[in-house]
Amino acid sequence: MTKALVPTMGALHGGHLALIDRARELADEVVVSIFVNPTQFGAGDDFDRYPRTLDADRELIADRAEIFVPSIDEVYTPGQPPDAIDAGARGDMWEGASRSGHFDAVLTVVNRLFDMTQPGIAVFGEKDWQQLALVRSMAAERHPNIRVVGVPTVRDNDGLAMSSRNRYLSAAERETAALIPVALNDIVAEAGSAESVARARQKLEQSGIDVDYLAVIDPVSLNEVGPNAPARVVIAARVGATRLIDNMRVRDLPKR
Ligand code: PAJ
Repeated sequence: MTKALVPTMGALHGGHLALIDRARELADEVVVSIFVNPTQFGAGDDFDRYPRTLDADRELIADRAEIFVPSIDEVYTPGQPPDAIDAGARGDMWEGASRSGHFDAVLTVVNRLFDMTQPGIAVFGEKDWQQLALVRSMAAERHPNIRVVGVPTVRDNDGLAMSSRNRYLSAAERETAALIPVALNDIVAEAGSAESVARARQKLEQSGIDVDYLAVIDPVSLNEVGPNAPARVVIAARVGATRLIDNMRVRDLPKR
């Protein structure tokens, strides 16, 4: 009997469902946790207005998996400091550079969810590449018996990666946001060359997108890489008031 855990913050969409489907292929028992973790939101972040759609989420999951909705006091025992996890140097890169402490908080809650549910498998999306890389390391160290599985990003018809935050976009912003995956595809088509990155960045900025970072990085160390190495292209960008992230595979890990 294998149990798979799919940690989420709810407002479930097709991306989450792909994780659940993968979990169902790999395990006979699937638990979807829904917990909007306050500690991983920064001061200027959207914790208060983060979409909470528990009834719809329950309905969506009903026949597919068990649902686990812990209270804040169950996750963070009052009066007891949490088993805080330091994400290390990779936690300060990219997303972490503008969201200080974010990945420490993510790893702390994921570690707690692992302890609470004791899965054999845990499923995460490639959409949050840095999160996946950091969770893999944390699990290898603290939960060597949990197999961490990554699932490719699910996109809408216009190419935009599905995200709970997409609902903040106006129709016009949505059209603009769809330029993000186009830009990533252009970079992939040119094998992640520095020129292609510069050109893509310029195109996005000319369309009114505020690019926070756009870089070709090593999939594990997350350091920027030159040509001929395995790589992902990662982006964070603001469209209107909404900050979106995405990434794509540029070059494969070498076959062994
Ligand atoms: P949340 O943003 O709800 O995402 C839950 C899981 O769904 C993550 O593993 C994320 O990578 C995955 N996911 C989101 N959009 C996806 C898409 N379009 N395609 C594939 N997978 C997608 O990530 C979190 O919650 C939290 O940080 C959490 C890990 C639950 C810790 O609080």
